[in-house]
Amino acid sequence: MSNQEEPPRPRTLAAGEMLPGVRNAIAVTSAKGGVGKSTVAVNLALSLAAAGARVGLLDADIYGPSLPLLMGIRQEPTITPSGKIRPIAKEGLELMSIGFVTGEEAPVIWRGPLLGQAVQQFLSQVEWGELDYLLLDLPPGTGDIPLTLSQTIELSGVVVVTTPQEVALQDVVRGIAMFQKVEVETLGLIENMSYYLCPHCQARHEIFGHGGGRDAARQLGIEFFGELPLEPAIRIAGDQGRPIALAAPDSPAGRAFAEIAAKLEAAVRRLATSL
Ligand SMILES: Nc1ncnc2c1ncn2[C@@H]1O[C@H](COP(=O)(O)OP(=O)(O)O)[C@@H](O)[C@H]1O
Ligand SMILES: [Mg+2]
Repeated sequence: MSNQEEPPRPRTLAAGEMLPGVRNAIAVTSAKGGVGKSTVAVNLALSLAAAGARVGLLDADIYGPSLPLLMGIRQEPTITPSGKIRPIAKEGLELMSIGFVTGEEAPVIWRGPLLGQAVQQFLSQVEWGELDYLLLDLPPGTGDIPLTLSQTIELSGVVVVTTPQEVALQDVVRGIAMFQKVEVETLGLIENMSYYLCPHCQARHEIFGHGGGRDAARQLGIEFFGELPLEPAIRIAGDQGRPIALAAPDSPAGRAFAEIAAKLEAAVRRLATSL
């Protein structure tokens, strides 16, 4: 650590009764499911931790929790003496998912109005401790959970994940507008499954076209954090419970995540100094 730069300790934005020890709560969102939001969230969390930050990850996708699979967690969280839920610590991260308790199927009772309460409980009943970053892996779209969250805690900002073929600009615009309405800043846009890197010849194949995410970010006036390759190794690593940022940090994909994590840290640092 000695030759490394101190991780940023930005001015607390997430302070408050809900998350007293969390310096920055950052939501990871997408307009649609299946774009790799959870994959990005877990790999960014690991990359931030590898750079020296204290990081938590809340899987707030109550309908389709993915942290149990992505981090290979099959144990239930324990309760602290004061009656709070202790997050599961693994690979330097503090992790919480409804899936740790219920398995990967969400209980039906939580559909509808109780959903927002469930997320609030997650935030208030979990003993997160001192964190530089708490990443929140939100369900896709602009439903109840993102809204409740942004009204419950003070988010430092959101990171939007999209894919090139569905830089359905309109969807991204709608998502960003929802957060703008509740005065949450969009920190940056990430394009996932951007290109295919042939493992044999190393050629870069742009299957879905090129430049959509970057163009969308420019049009929306938000920062473009970068592109991530479509790579079987990313899926396999996730399915095996050792995401690529952990399993192969020096692979092209591992480095791409580290670069995006650095841009996220820089954006948060700028935000902290601009307050
Ligand atoms: N860059 C990528 N390359 C290859 N597979 C990916 C990549 N990103 C995500 N995947 C795979 O796509 C599927 C959906 O990803 P997931 O992170 O669960 O999406 P979301 O959270 O947006 O629904 C998963 O099987 C995941 O492993
Ligand atoms: Mg997901």
